[in-house]
Amino acid sequence: MRDLPPHVLVLFGATGDLAARKLFPGLYTLAARGLLPEEYAVVGSGRSERSDDEVRDLVRQAVDDAVDDVDEGVLEDLLGRLSYCAATDEDGSDLAEVVRAVEDDLDTEVGNVRRLLYLSVPPDVLESMAAMLGREGLTERARLVVEKPFGLDLASSRSLDAALREVAEEDQVFRIDHFLGKEAVQNILALRFANGVLEPAWNRHSIESVQIDVPETLGMEGRGSFYESTGCLRDMVSTHLCQLLGFVALEEPEDLDERSVRDAKAAVFESLRPLDPSRVVLGQYDGYRDEDDVDDDSDVETLVALEAYVDNDRWRDVPFLLRTGKRMAETRRTITLRFRTPATTVLPGAECAANELVLELTDDVQIQLDVRAKRPGPTMHLTEGTFRLDLAEDVDEEEAEPLAAYERLLLDTLEGDRTFFTRSDEVDRLWQVVQPVLDDRPQVHPYEPGSWGPEAAVALAPGGWRLGR
Ligand code: BG6
Repeated sequence: MRDLPPHVLVLFGATGDLAARKLFPGLYTLAARGLLPEEYAVVGSGRSERSDDEVRDLVRQAVDDAVDDVDEGVLEDLLGRLSYCAATDEDGSDLAEVVRAVEDDLDTEVGNVRRLLYLSVPPDVLESMAAMLGREGLTERARLVVEKPFGLDLASSRSLDAALREVAEEDQVFRIDHFLGKEAVQNILALRFANGVLEPAWNRHSIESVQIDVPETLGMEGRGSFYESTGCLRDMVSTHLCQLLGFVALEEPEDLDERSVRDAKAAVFESLRPLDPSRVVLGQYDGYRDEDDVDDDSDVETLVALEAYVDNDRWRDVPFLLRTGKRMAETRRTITLRFRTPATTVLPGAECAANELVLELTDDVQIQLDVRAKRPGPTMHLTEGTFRLDLAEDVDEEEAEPLAAYERLLLDTLEGDRTFFTRSDEVDRLWQVVQPVLDDRPQVHPYEPGSWGPEAAVALAPGGWRLGR
């Protein structure tokens, strides 16, 4: 067991999709690995009335679906600590009573119990839920985990922030962006700052462009109504993809602590130029309007491709090309740094594909460096060669057991470490960057499911996108 203070975890949205796919399986895995506090209880909550046993059955099913070789002892122990109480943003009094009763039952002084309030609720009720938590006194001794999108535009995000500040201090708020919990994202820091071959080249003098490409083959999967109110720009771009950009572009932090890493990332966002709507392409896959809970004439985008610039000395004039969408040709999370062709006069550098560093943000980190080399034979012609790093093969599994993104971030929340959570000034700045596109929305181009998006998106990258070329 981890040496953590006693906790009550209150999970709003306990019967929802995220809880079933990620949060309960994540809790199970942490329990199985001995990473939860010795004394803890879980209270699920949601709008609908359910019995404790009904919710335990849902959780059992969710863990069985998500985890191979479930340890029944661990699962039973987790289920034994779980109860359920309905609550709404208007009325949380029963829930507050249940939480207090559960705290009394823990084998410790109530004042020692920390609360982790996880708000997996739709963006439009976040604010009123926060107010309810304040009214019921639940934010005392609490950390609040908030799911993205944090607001739907600059104004609503500021209003949400003000509502959170009414009931909690900034250091109690954990804005979760699960991409930051991915092992591969954190590896960007190691790769870059620990390698003499990469760090000196990580700038506009050596890098021609950066691509952050996150195509997904999946479609709505029952999330039509969420998507109708959010769209791809808010669901993926102003959140996950911009956070990846922040990690790729940041200056070396003074330290790897919470303040230094977030300061370094926030400085990137300060330099991020507000988006130019004429360099943003929106797409919608054919058939989206037939999905459940989607309007017949919906104009919501399911794909975004755009060009961004970080106006600082390191990155001036280097395009950062971001693309993501649903029902695309492949599911990938790929960051590509395309290097400039050296000004050689003796070698025909441009005769084969570019030299690129490619980071695949998979669970097993894969990194590839494409270089030009001499083609064997009597003439001086170039060919492509590849250096490949596959950490899953190179590192002994016993020594290195990565946690999945939500597991890692749940653990960080229990430990009170916000290094890989988003700070309020970052969120505010990212909305300032994205707001021009909301104010002057580009037309939405249709695209074929299973493709790389509309032609305008494909054409946005000078020299082409690495994926799908
Ligand atoms: C979620 C988005 O935050 O991230 C989804 O709401 C998206 O639309 C998902 O599919 C992608 O996450 P991952 O971890 O599967 O890459």
